Amino acid sequence: MIKKPKNSLEVRIISNVIEVQDLKKVYSLGQVKVNALSGINMKVPSGDFVAILGPSGSGKTTLLHSLGALDKPTSGSVLIFGSDLALLNDSQLTEFRRKIGFVFQFFNLIPRLTALENVELPLSIVRVPKKVRRKRAIKLLETVGLGDRIHHNPLELSGGERQRVALARALANKPDFLLMDEPTGNIDSKTASELLEIITTLNRENLVTTIMVTHDHEIAKYAKRILHFKDGLILKEEVNS
Ligand SMILES: Nc1ncnc2c1ncn2[C@@H]1O[C@H](COP(=O)(O)OP(=O)(O)O)[C@@H](O)[C@H]1O
Ligand SMILES: [Mg+2]
Repeated sequence: MIKKPKNSLEVRIISNVIEVQDLKKVYSLGQVKVNALSGINMKVPSGDFVAILGPSGSGKTTLLHSLGALDKPTSGSVLIFGSDLALLNDSQLTEFRRKIGFVFQFFNLIPRLTALENVELPLSIVRVPKKVRRKRAIKLLETVGLGDRIHHNPLELSGGERQRVALARALANKPDFLLMDEPTGNIDSKTASELLEIITTLNRENLVTTIMVTHDHEIAKYAKRILHFKDGLILKEEVNS
């Protein structure tokens, strides 16, 4: 399993909780090769909030999936707390993925479960006792402003509310990282701003290292830094004031 640094010396050495080195991903479709990532280098210090901004097809999802060990790169490496993901075995990878909160464009909530049950689900998988998980799930739903919607199922919620449930679910296991792929892709701009206000507050107060993929410059502005992506490469970095 990946250990967080314990003493101050290690903290100094591993100041970047995520480090990506010359990451490349080539998809082969028969004879055709697609270079989705063409040599990405990035460093993310603990507690950072990074937006990856780029047009459709620029490799953003591929990068996010590589960071979350949902996809294997062709070459290069992803170091998490200084450990190379490529060197982990399957059970270590499963454990690693549990420490990541994922938020997807299409919410991926379970329709038959209530908001509360959706948020409790990742906690029951790791066998958190029922009382504890219920209490934590309610608190998280309150944090995202859904304290009065906990017994609604996803079909009874608006798009913005669904995404807030997904956010609460992503935070359930107290993740080290929050990885979000176009979290506002299916909600209107006002609701999107409200969601980003919540995410910004969570990042600031709980210091969850956050990486958000988006094609929307207005949404990227909420992050501390913007990495501009094109054709599988980072073109430039912008620091938000
Ligand atoms: N599973 C796959 N097989 C083949 N090509 C893929 C696959 N996933 C993504 N691609 C291609 O890789 C490129 C980057 O895709 P993606 O990472 O999804 O970009 P983005 O998220 O920025 O839209 C695109 O050209 C896409 O068509
Ligand atoms: Mg994508």
